[in-house]
Amino acid sequence: MTISTSQSDAELQTRHFGKRVSKSKANDPAGHEQEMKTTIVPYSDNAHRSQVVALWEIVFGYDAPHNKPSIVIDKKIASMDQLFFVALAGDAVVGTIMAGYDGHRGWIYSVAVSSSCRRQGVGSRLMAVAEESLIGMGCVKINLQILQGNESVTVFYSSLGYSVEQRISMGKRIHENIPAA
Ligand SMILES: CC(C)(COP(=O)(O)OP(=O)(O)OC[C@H]1O[C@@H](n2cnc3c(N)ncnc32)[C@H](O)[C@@H]1OP(=O)(O)O)[C@@H](O)C(=O)NCCC(=O)NCCS
Repeated sequence: MTISTSQSDAELQTRHFGKRVSKSKANDPAGHEQEMKTTIVPYSDNAHRSQVVALWEIVFGYDAPHNKPSIVIDKKIASMDQLFFVALAGDAVVGTIMAGYDGHRGWIYSVAVSSSCRRQGVGSRLMAVAEESLIGMGCVKINLQILQGNESVTVFYSSLGYSVEQRISMGKRIHENIPAA
């Protein structure tokens, strides 16, 4: 998502989405293949890093130091939670998703599909794979946030069963862990 307001303003103005998960609604990502022969696979640092960085720079364009793609990837790898997936068309990374599970809630982050590959089900397949992983970990609710200015993406999440919830989203930066710009 391209942020039209300043990062700090935008982060204070998120829309909060949530979805209760049920095993009966679990998607079937077996083989993780879909119509345009895109395959969803776990992120591999050797094979995918440079392409993921390039995709996120184009799609998200974050300028805050803590959102620098290489740092986000390093921290996700260090978490060793196996909740980072990419969509491949051949060897090309055309989509990403990260999830997190804290034992209470699941969270979805970094959902991105290359502009040339959108509206072909890639984003939905990425969500299905992340949801399947979270469901397998016992997660009963999945949340995600949408920055103000990116409201159109609510149609995408709504199509997957997510609904807008009345929440106030708050955040606090931990400055000692944020790298210098
Ligand atoms: C949001 C995003 C991941 C969707 O990926 P995608 O591969 O195009 O999604 P899908 O093809 O699976 O779309 C499934 C359904 O969602 C809805 N949808 C998806 N994108 C939409 C859009 N731009 N406008 C309206 N509806 C949309 C449609 O109902 C679509 O079904 P249809 O194509 O049969 O009509 C992609 O547009 C993207 O990368 N956007 C920029 C990054 C971003 O905003 N990420 C979310 C951060 S919270």
